[in-house]
Amino acid sequence: MSKITDIQGTFKLHNGVDMPYFGLGTYLADNDEEVIDAVKFALQSGYRHIDTAAAYKNEEGVGKGIVDSGVAREDVFLTTKVWNSDQGYESTLKAFEASVKRLGTDYVDLYLVHWPVAGKYKDTWRALEKLYKEGRIKAIGVSNFLKHHLEDLLGSAEIVPMVNQMEFHPHLVQQELLDFCNTNKIQYEAWSPFMQGKLFELDITKELEDKYGKSTAQIVLRWNLQKGVVTIPKSVHKNRIVSNSEIFDFELAPNEVAYLDSLHKGERSGPDPDNFDF
Ligand SMILES: NC(=O)c1ccc[n+]([C@@H]2O[C@H](COP(=O)([O-])OP(=O)(O)OC[C@H]3O[C@@H](n4cnc5c(N)ncnc54)[C@H](OP(=O)(O)O)[C@@H]3O)[C@@H](O)[C@H]2O)c1
Repeated sequence: MSKITDIQGTFKLHNGVDMPYFGLGTYLADNDEEVIDAVKFALQSGYRHIDTAAAYKNEEGVGKGIVDSGVAREDVFLTTKVWNSDQGYESTLKAFEASVKRLGTDYVDLYLVHWPVAGKYKDTWRALEKLYKEGRIKAIGVSNFLKHHLEDLLGSAEIVPMVNQMEFHPHLVQQELLDFCNTNKIQYEAWSPFMQGKLFELDITKELEDKYGKSTAQIVLRWNLQKGVVTIPKSVHKNRIVSNSEIFDFELAPNEVAYLDSLHKGERSGPDPDNFDF
């Protein structure tokens, strides 16, 4: 694993692409000044990775925020995702064109299959492989794929996914899945590192906060990175966008990483990839 250095540091994907291990999530950020300002401010504060999805209905705002930031497009790692109702080969190709149009760009850095829609995700994957080979996407990956979904996909895929974006926080560590991804060189990426905010009601990091003079958010994000997991905390507040990124001046000890690992309860704040109906 690469060393954790700074807000623009990267993990190398199996195709050689450098993916910034720290980024901004945008789920539930409105497609107006809210997301535009958050993206612009984050990039001006040093972030170089923005995560959106067709389903968040804020791709236009994300694209505007990138332009308004003054940071060159090629210096930003931009992820979007194909939504479930668009899955299938032809429909994914169309959905991709619609996404890049809304984003105001002609390529994305990472395109993800948002959920493992039964009977469709293999055709969706073939469309991602085609777009990747054409150079429209720098890296392709999946999201919410459990081990059996990955094994099934790997059975027919020409290209091994570069990333699996999963719910990941102290109550949902899924170490076996993380190990499986590491073994297969699939970069693990955390969504909802704060359990969509519920983390702040739990008192699980107090000792570490006192020891390092850091917040709950900072302790948990640092733990993500030390586990080799890319993380994309969402905030639309400037003070939080900055403080969430202040995690490069301390290091958790191995027993502290293990302590956070030990809190795993299999508790989800979002849907179960084996049982979703959307
Ligand atoms: N692939 C998928 O299926 C999937 C699913 C869910 C999410 N995601 C991605 O992952 C990103 C992160 O996940 P998420 O948005 O679900 O949840 P999250 O990042 O775990 O939590 C976001 C919540 O925490 C608040 N917050 C942020 N920083 C804080 C701080 N320092 N102190 C207190 N509260 C703070 C935010 O509020 P404010 O904004 O008001 O600050 C927001 O309510 C998403 O935005 C999205 O890009 C992907």
